Amino acid sequence: MCGIVGYIGNKSAAPFLLDGLTKLEYRGYDSAGIAVFDAHDVFIEKSVGRLDALKEKLKGVTLDGVIGIGHTRWATHGRPSDQNAHPHTDCNGEFVVVHNGIIENFMPLKEALIAKGHHFTSETDTEVVAHLIEEFYEGDFAAAVRAVLKKIEGSYSLVFMSEKHPDTLICAKQDNPLVVGLGDGENFIASDIPAIISRTRRTYILNDGEIAIVKKDSVEITDREGKPVDKKIFHVSWNAEAAEKGGYEHFMLKEINEQPKAVRDTMSKRVAKDGSRITLDELNWSKEFLDGIDKVYIVACGTAYHAGLVGKFYIEKLARILVEVDLASEFRYRDPIVDEKTLVIVISQSGETSDTLAALKEAKRRGARTLAVTNVVGSSIAREADQVVHTWAGPEIAVASTKAYTTQLILMFMLALYMAQLRSTVSDERARELIGLLKKIPAQISETLSDVEPIKTFARRYGFNEDVFYIGRSLDYDVALEGALKLKEISYIHAEAYASGELKHGTLALIVEGVPVIALATQKSVYEKTISNIKEVKARDAVVIGIAADGDEEIGKFVDHVMFVPDTDELLIPLLAVVPLQLLAYYAAITRGCDVDKPRNLAKSVTVE
Ligand code: AGP
Repeated sequence: MCGIVGYIGNKSAAPFLLDGLTKLEYRGYDSAGIAVFDAHDVFIEKSVGRLDALKEKLKGVTLDGVIGIGHTRWATHGRPSDQNAHPHTDCNGEFVVVHNGIIENFMPLKEALIAKGHHFTSETDTEVVAHLIEEFYEGDFAAAVRAVLKKIEGSYSLVFMSEKHPDTLICAKQDNPLVVGLGDGENFIASDIPAIISRTRRTYILNDGEIAIVKKDSVEITDREGKPVDKKIFHVSWNAEAAEKGGYEHFMLKEINEQPKAVRDTMSKRVAKDGSRITLDELNWSKEFLDGIDKVYIVACGTAYHAGLVGKFYIEKLARILVEVDLASEFRYRDPIVDEKTLVIVISQSGETSDTLAALKEAKRRGARTLAVTNVVGSSIAREADQVVHTWAGPEIAVASTKAYTTQLILMFMLALYMAQLRSTVSDERARELIGLLKKIPAQISETLSDVEPIKTFARRYGFNEDVFYIGRSLDYDVALEGALKLKEISYIHAEAYASGELKHGTLALIVEGVPVIALATQKSVYEKTISNIKEVKARDAVVIGIAADGDEEIGKFVDHVMFVPDTDELLIPLLAVVPLQLLAYYAAITRGCDVDKPRNLAKSVTVE
């Protein structure tokens, strides 16, 4: 997720570009750049690091141009660097482009362009677009853009600028947001409303497949074929702060609702088009490599640790390799049994958690092969590990991790299936079945998000309890741990998760009349046992909220309330079962008037021991 801005009008472009990028930094902040055309040539400045680094480079530079584009990056392809920062240009610098999204077929396109003599200066997927328009341009700017869009596959919001057309910006939208702000003798382009709200509240919100040809006194919207589209002006009523959260009250709720797209993006390019295989090209493992591994360690902290527990289940179930999961803060001091036949997988959203980084270094010191699963390209953990696979969740701002968790789960599932297919421990038929179900997950998450009213009711009714228990068996237990952490860390309720079978070994002593128990019962293989555990707590007059799969007609007989999630394979249902638990925690925190995005005593990335 990156931030894009564009300006064309009768004032200097640079101030709007820099101010707009500042407002969009929450969308990505590992590098930034601007391009301004000042009637003679295009001036481009880019810098790795936060936007301030770019502003520092621009100090003392006079930029009079009245047309320009800018970008603040959240890297997906190509580590954060000056060269990989946007904008990108063609060979002669006549075309300039900024991009948010993923061009899935950029490698074959890049190879073909290089074969034609194009020279590239970055590792990014985006630069391909600048060279493609150089190829297709024959005098008509918009026609050249349309030709480029026919060649590229993937998700994008793009803004093009050219010194050949100093009175025009062209933008195109597919799967990533783009708005055009309508001014008086000037017009604005941005990924998101916060960047333009201080200049205008009259906007065109572009839809997928739409192209905007933006001049200072006109905005023409067409479809990909160039046919005019009749757009209604959208008047923005939000205030600036609300706009940054996309209209949501908190970043956490915004990020919970971003999960369908985050999961879809994380899957993109990693499933064969025919649905037969998982293709983790960034790993390029072989059966021989895996035959040399006799144990896997998954090491992480907090929510990432909970994702690791699910990952253990996946790898053992599908790839039939022994997996141990450990808290990073324990692993590093445990004198772990690790050698060159051990694969250590570290999971970290931020890629900067000090305990996890230290555990990774300890694993390497002991000879292990190491793999990082992280959301931040170029992070310390990404750079330290032998190999890295990225979740593509975009920046996660709220301290409570949500979309990072579900993208970690989907990536661990794909990794496990990838390993299983290399080891032939899963039949082709079963692999196809699982991949087919995998592709449905984003839509099923959306479905789960569509009705939050019952969850709000539960949060209001039970949000003032001081103790809440989460119980489950198998993968339901792993999800229960995550649900309890969510509630604990943002509502400050003492929430604990227990393996249902453990209740009679002590915890049952705490189950008294009226205490809320969230019982996860999505795992069909242990369903009967789970129901008997629910009966145990009901016999002590607990209030039980069940989390179950659609179509379960039994559970309602044993619990006080039920939250259903779409049914799917029990391996994949954790991606759905966690969503009501995230929402329950969110609304309970609201009920209690807590600071949802910045809970007390906690930090987004724990970079100290
Ligand atoms: C999760 O909601 C918490 N914010 C916290 O447990 C977090 O998951 C943990 O600190 C690990 O962070 P990381 O994924 O960035 O390494």
